[in-house]
Amino acid sequence: MPVDKVVVRPPATSANMGPGFDSLGFAMELRDELTFERTGDAESMAITLDPDGKPCESMIPTGSDNLAIRAFATAFDEAGQQAPRVRVSIVNRIPVARGLGSSAAAIVAGLVAADAFMGIEPDLQRRLNRAARIEGHPDNTAACILGGVTASSLVGARVLWAKVPVRGNLLAVVAVPDFPVPTRAARNVLPGNVPYSDAVFNVGRVALLVASLASGDYANLRYAMDDRLHQPYRSAIVPGMVNAMRAACDAGAMGSYMSGAGPSILALLSGDTQPEIVAAAMEEAFARVRVNAVTMVLPMAMSGAECEVS
Ligand code: HSE
Repeated sequence: MPVDKVVVRPPATSANMGPGFDSLGFAMELRDELTFERTGDAESMAITLDPDGKPCESMIPTGSDNLAIRAFATAFDEAGQQAPRVRVSIVNRIPVARGLGSSAAAIVAGLVAADAFMGIEPDLQRRLNRAARIEGHPDNTAACILGGVTASSLVGARVLWAKVPVRGNLLAVVAVPDFPVPTRAARNVLPGNVPYSDAVFNVGRVALLVASLASGDYANLRYAMDDRLHQPYRSAIVPGMVNAMRAACDAGAMGSYMSGAGPSILALLSGDTQPEIVAAAMEEAFARVRVNAVTMVLPMAMSGAECEVS
C-alpha cells in the first residue's frame, strides 16, 4: 500500500559535550514533529506550526532550501527514484541556530521520512553517513538518529560510531540566549592550528568524560567537560558564556559546557540537585551582561528519531 503520510519526531541534540569536538553528541527529550504528506502541488513546501498547530513565523525556510525537504529529495535522488511532492508541517520546538541540533533534526527527519515513503528497511549506516555528509559533521546527526550519548568519527565519508553506555539517567539544564549563532559563523572563529598542549588537554578531558559517563562516577565531570579547542575562541561571540558555565557549577551542576556551536549553555545534573536553582543561576549570569536567556530542563532521550507511518 502506498504511504501517504509520515510523522517523524527527531530529538534535540547537544554536540561536543565540551571537549569532544565534532565527535560526542547527547540527545535530549525535546522533539520537533515533522509531518510529511503527499500533495499534488507542483513544488514541495514546508510550513511551520506552533505547538497548538497554528501556522507561525520562524527562521525556517519554506521552499526547496528547507533542510528536511533537501534531505528527503537527496535520499530519493541517491536511490535513483523520483521524490513525491510533499507538504511538510513542522511543529518546531527545538530553538533554531542555538546549538541544540535543529538542523540535524530537520535532516534526519527528511531521511527517515524518505525511507518510509520508499517502503524500504532503513539502512542505519547509510542514514548515518548521509546525514553527516549533509550536515558537515557527524556529532549531532549520530545522536539524533541513535539517541543517548554517541561518539562518532568520520573515516572518509563513513561514520564510525558507538553509543556511550551511560550509567544512570542524565538531566540537562539548558540556557538558551535570545540571539542566534549560525554554525558557520561559530566555525569561522576557530583557528587553523592549536598548540600541542591544548590538544593533549582535550584528549585527557574527553577520555575522562566518556569513562565517567560509562562508570557513573561523575566526581570529575566539572573538569572532564573542560575544553581548549573551541570554547575559548567562541566565548568572544557569546557574551556571558563563561560566567553562565561557572554559575551552573557553583549552583550544584556536575559540569557545564557550550552546547554545540552555541550560544546555548548546557549543565548536567545529578538526581539530588534542584534544576530550578541551576537554571536561575544561569539566567542571572547571562542577565548580568544584558543577555536574556530562557532555560529548559531536559532529560536524556533514550531513543533517536521516532517515526509513524500511515
Ligand atoms: N561540532 C560542531 C561545532 C557542532 O561545534 O561546530 C555544531 O552544531
